[in-house]
Amino acid sequence: MQTKTPSDSKTIMTDMVLPSETNPLNNLFGGELLARMDRAASIAARRHSRRIVVTASVNHVAFTRAVPLGSVVTVEAAVSRAFKSSMEVYLDVWMEDRETGMRTKANEAIYTFVAVDDTGRPDAVPALSPETELEEERYAGALRRKQLSLVLAGKMAPKDATELKAIFE
Ligand SMILES: CC(C)(COP(=O)(O)OP(=O)(O)OC[C@H]1O[C@@H](n2cnc3c(N)ncnc32)[C@H](O)[C@@H]1OP(=O)(O)O)[C@@H](O)C(=O)NCCC(=O)NCCS
Repeated sequence: MQTKTPSDSKTIMTDMVLPSETNPLNNLFGGELLARMDRAASIAARRHSRRIVVTASVNHVAFTRAVPLGSVVTVEAAVSRAFKSSMEVYLDVWMEDRETGMRTKANEAIYTFVAVDDTGRPDAVPALSPETELEEERYAGALRRKQLSLVLAGKMAPKDATELKAIFE
């Protein structure tokens, strides 16, 4: 299988915040943003693997800034590392100022997707080779995050989480 880069899976989704998508403070409802990020991440994972993909876990979400009603929101997703059948997808969420067009980072998130066959069984995905400094950084941390996610899901014994243990040694 041909090795791919994060640019091969890069997915950009831009949309507005409508009244039905807000909380009582008139900011974007968290669940709505999670759904938008899940869609963009799913497309990125599909572009990388060219397979059916399912969300295996949401590893991290930082709702750093509220996104007000009427904002133009851009969700950018790209695969940051591929393992055997799973892929880490890194998301950056931006808000665009109406007058200046300047973009401000609103949120960041990390999702894990698994490529599956028609019967839902995990299927192999191409390897990923990072190109930029940021892509290298995200690639390097992905194994640690995978192990943390597996430990939290009860699918890996903490004693086997070598990358996590290395942080504390
Ligand atoms: C995701 C799913 C396919 C994994 O199946 P599984 O039987 O656990 O398969 P495996 O144990 O072989 O794991 C497959 C891969 O997923 C990874 N994985 C599984 N659970 C994970 C988790 N919580 N966090 C990170 N990675 C995980 C494994 O590490 C493995 O990765 P690798 O092949 O790259 O090494 C299965 O749990 C599933 O279908 N879940 C439902 C998905 C879904 O419907 N999502 C939408 C929710 S509404």
